[in-house]
Amino acid sequence: MAQDALNYFLHALGALFRIRRIYPSGTKQVLQSARQACQKLAEWGRPVRITFLGNDTIVEDRKIETLPASFRALFQSLQQLGFESVQIEADSGEDDLTAWIEDVASKSRTPYRSSKIVAGSLKLERRVEPDSVITRAVTGYMGFLAEAQEVLSDLESKKPEGLVRAREIVCAIVARLAVGRELFEPIREMKNFDDYTFTHALNVCVLSSALAQALQVSDEMVNAIAMAALCHDLGKKEVPKEILNRNGPLEPNEWLLMEKHPSCGARVLLDIPGVESSNPLLPVVAYQHHMGANQSGYPKVRRNLPQYTLHFASLLVAIADVYDALRTVRPYRPALTVPKATTILIKDALSGKLHKEYVSRFLLLLNVLAPGRRVVLSDGSCGIIVETHAGYPLCPMVSDEHGKVRDLSKPSAPTISEVKEESTGDPQ
Ligand SMILES: [Fe+2]
Ligand SMILES: [Fe+2]
Repeated sequence: MAQDALNYFLHALGALFRIRRIYPSGTKQVLQSARQACQKLAEWGRPVRITFLGNDTIVEDRKIETLPASFRALFQSLQQLGFESVQIEADSGEDDLTAWIEDVASKSRTPYRSSKIVAGSLKLERRVEPDSVITRAVTGYMGFLAEAQEVLSDLESKKPEGLVRAREIVCAIVARLAVGRELFEPIREMKNFDDYTFTHALNVCVLSSALAQALQVSDEMVNAIAMAALCHDLGKKEVPKEILNRNGPLEPNEWLLMEKHPSCGARVLLDIPGVESSNPLLPVVAYQHHMGANQSGYPKVRRNLPQYTLHFASLLVAIADVYDALRTVRPYRPALTVPKATTILIKDALSGKLHKEYVSRFLLLLNVLAPGRRVVLSDGSCGIIVETHAGYPLCPMVSDEHGKVRDLSKPSAPTISEVKEESTGDPQ
């Protein structure tokens, strides 16, 4: 029934737009139509949020499959004018609705802001004239970060509206990744940002989405993975802050608390209405992200489940999670450089803790094992990468100190045990 009231309002709003396009402003027809829309909004009694994400139109938390003729013209105009989000307060009056509809009818592309109605971009990005890719990435990142903080707080309080907003963020991130890679490594510039929890969640979301895209999974799955990555550490809210930020090793009983965060996170997420049916990956990834590809991590799987396999999304998020943690300043150590972090990823991949193929794809994204890079091999020798096998950077051709070229893809060949720093040019 409540949904009907919302539909009636949308129909009335669409009618107001159509009538305003036929009759001049201030005429009897327009005023009557505005009154009608205002009444319908009062009957609905709540704010109305309309979001355009790519080809999707979402009203509140519901995707509209086919736009009804009654408000199709209004929604299409909003999309064509570049609006991504409209928020109409429940107590908007006739004047508020009329003034905004005037603005839409005048084909204004500038964000609209009155005390009752706000229309513009998804608040994820302040529109600035970018003078460089980094500026654009950092500006976008700051917007995403503010939004991510609110979304994660909503989800921590088990509010289902957090899911819709999380979807908005990940769609915006994934869309920007598809356009270019500008958010991928430049976000690392923000690694010292104060609040580790939120930057970490957002970084893991961006890195996991980029990795999922590189693995060519479907767009729908990229979005699902990005959302799961954003929420992967939600269970840390149950871990005392002094343990999370401890400047030194944890006591065994503190580790026990820390190791509970995956199951706590899964539980928090499962308690949010709608998660189990529409976002089942969220609790799965929260639960599995520390298990390890070889299940050497935590939580431990009970012995009577020998066929237990991790979801591939958990394996992707685990790589992004480890990489971001290594590249970030923590109370107990400085941020590691890209080569040092890469060395640890390779070790974890070779030991089976991280999924080897996915780490390999991740390293391609980082482009760190490229020709010219100095490496130390597992037999103790040093060399320089001279060529990489297409798509598989873990086993390149390496020229050793004597100029002999070794193919690390051969079964008997040594593996890379350390990626050396470059004298200049490495991202720090
Ligand atoms: Fe975690
Ligand atoms: Fe994490």
